[in-house]
Amino acid sequence: MEREIGKVGVVGLGAMGAGIAQLCVEAGVETVGREVSLELAEQARDRIAHFLTRKVDKGQLEQGARDAAIARLSLTTELADFVDCDLVIEAIVEDLAPKQELFAALGRVCPADTVLATNTSALSVTEIASATSTPERVVGMHFFNPAPLMPLVEIIRAELSSEDAFETAYAFGEKLGKQPIRCYDTPGFVVNRVLIPLLNDCIRVLDEARVTVEDLDAGMKHGAGWPMGPCELVDLVGIDVHVHASEALYEKTKEPRMAAPPRLVAMRNAGLLGRKSGRGFYRY
Ligand code: 3HC
Repeated sequence: MEREIGKVGVVGLGAMGAGIAQLCVEAGVETVGREVSLELAEQARDRIAHFLTRKVDKGQLEQGARDAAIARLSLTTELADFVDCDLVIEAIVEDLAPKQELFAALGRVCPADTVLATNTSALSVTEIASATSTPERVVGMHFFNPAPLMPLVEIIRAELSSEDAFETAYAFGEKLGKQPIRCYDTPGFVVNRVLIPLLNDCIRVLDEARVTVEDLDAGMKHGAGWPMGPCELVDLVGIDVHVHASEALYEKTKEPRMAAPPRLVAMRNAGLLGRKSGRGFYRY
């Protein structure tokens, strides 16, 4: 049976975690957000407050509803504050070891019926779950960037996920106003399995067809109906995040199209990370 979610914990309040926390508080759910320092946590709360204020300015949200949403978000640096959460969603760095360490700790802190979800883009949910003594309560909830705007959430069933945990996560995705889809724990799940090699192809075409960044983006927007061009999109996702996801998928599938194009690796190495660093394919 799916479980009613009254309180959620979000671990990691970077772009994805803050977006997920925003969705939770907007949906009326008490949320505790955890960062490594209170300063970082407060910065995330400020970003959430900024986006909610913009909604008020545009007449999409009442001022009172905005204030109530922000009041639902509490901040912490301690995992112990997740003790009364019904669901914890992890959105920390995309590396297996720290995720496994976190899930092992969450397994010890949270009551046995708390559902534990990872927002990983390209790692195996099953491998993350294997670090806990109760892998049946671990599932994937994969949101898309920017989480408050993108309607999809992939609900991922790992090898040992229980039906209850899986359906609880699905129902919670609906409660957040998202369009959830169900899938199994395969490399890249559904969308990234298709999107990552496609974006890598787009970047290779830059050199092969000697097309400019602007023209490639215009090509995919006006010839394929994409809402933004591939270079704009990689800048939005983060060049480091995209390279990392490509490497993780290549390692698992050995498909050449999954491998990060050298041009992107060079950009990552030079610190051109896209919007978040102020410069990627474009300047911000
Ligand atoms: N959080 C909250 N609110 C945000 C936000 C964010 N990160 N970013 C923007 N907003 C708000 C802003 O307040 C903005 O309004 P304002 O400019 O008046 O303040 C409002 O949203 C609307 O923003 P835009 O005018 O930019 O909205 P658009 O209509 O242009 O749509 C878009 C933006 C939804 C991002 C659209 O361009 C789109 O769909 N792009 C494709 C994105 C995509 O494909 N994402 C998936 C990436 S892959 C991924 O995430 C997988 C991962 O595993 C790597």
